[in-house]
Amino acid sequence: MNIPDIIIAIDGYSSTGKSSLAKKIARKFGFLYLDSGALYRGVTLFAQEEGLISRLGKVNPALEEALAGLVLSFAEDGRLMMGPRCIEPEIRSMEVSSQVSNIAAVPYVRAWVDSQLREYGRRGRIVMDGRDIGTAVFPEAQLKVFMTASEEVRARRRYEEMVAKGETPLLEEVVQNLRERDYIDSHRETNPLRRADDAFELDNSDMSFEEELAWVQGVIQGKFGIL
Ligand code: DC
Repeated sequence: MNIPDIIIAIDGYSSTGKSSLAKKIARKFGFLYLDSGALYRGVTLFAQEEGLISRLGKVNPALEEALAGLVLSFAEDGRLMMGPRCIEPEIRSMEVSSQVSNIAAVPYVRAWVDSQLREYGRRGRIVMDGRDIGTAVFPEAQLKVFMTASEEVRARRRYEEMVAKGETPLLEEVVQNLRERDYIDSHRETNPLRRADDAFELDNSDMSFEEELAWVQGVIQGKFGIL
């Protein structure tokens, strides 16, 4: 299926499988995949390493100026780099996960990340996942998907992902982290997580990955009149 040079925005709650679906779409249609959450995670790691966020998640206002010296970029294989250093394993740790929503709620951090994301968007043919891609970063995106799934399914997925990586999380801790992040993400003042009016909603609690992909293909076919 040949699809036009569009921007595809995939938003939704934590651990709904946004990135797996976005990566699959990118491979299938030859699009560039961009993980916007990785940039918020990169900023969080930076703030932690620079001592600009407290244990309780209080952000030091000096972060704003410090961001001028931060260079985050995606390597060819999609991994996040801080200058020349690959920070991919660290940004997925529980330590970063537990503070990233506090960092992502800071308006100047969002402005910093948005400007980077929009730069990538200029080339078109991208699929980007996050929380506000269809509402704030690319409100003009031609295809928007909003993903949901039950809390139980999401927690189980996240737990299994972490175990597969050799971590030893407590299921209760994973559930707690999901709840906290969803709450902060959907209640912050600047660009909270919400479904764009023109987004197609996908609840994948009881769907296989193949069914999800078929659903997306159906939406693309319907929307762009492609057979
Ligand atoms: O998708 P993720 O779990 O890697 O995202 C990490 C955090 O970043 C998430 O808790 C909310 C925030 N985020 C955001 O506020 N806006 C985005 N576009 C992407 C992520």
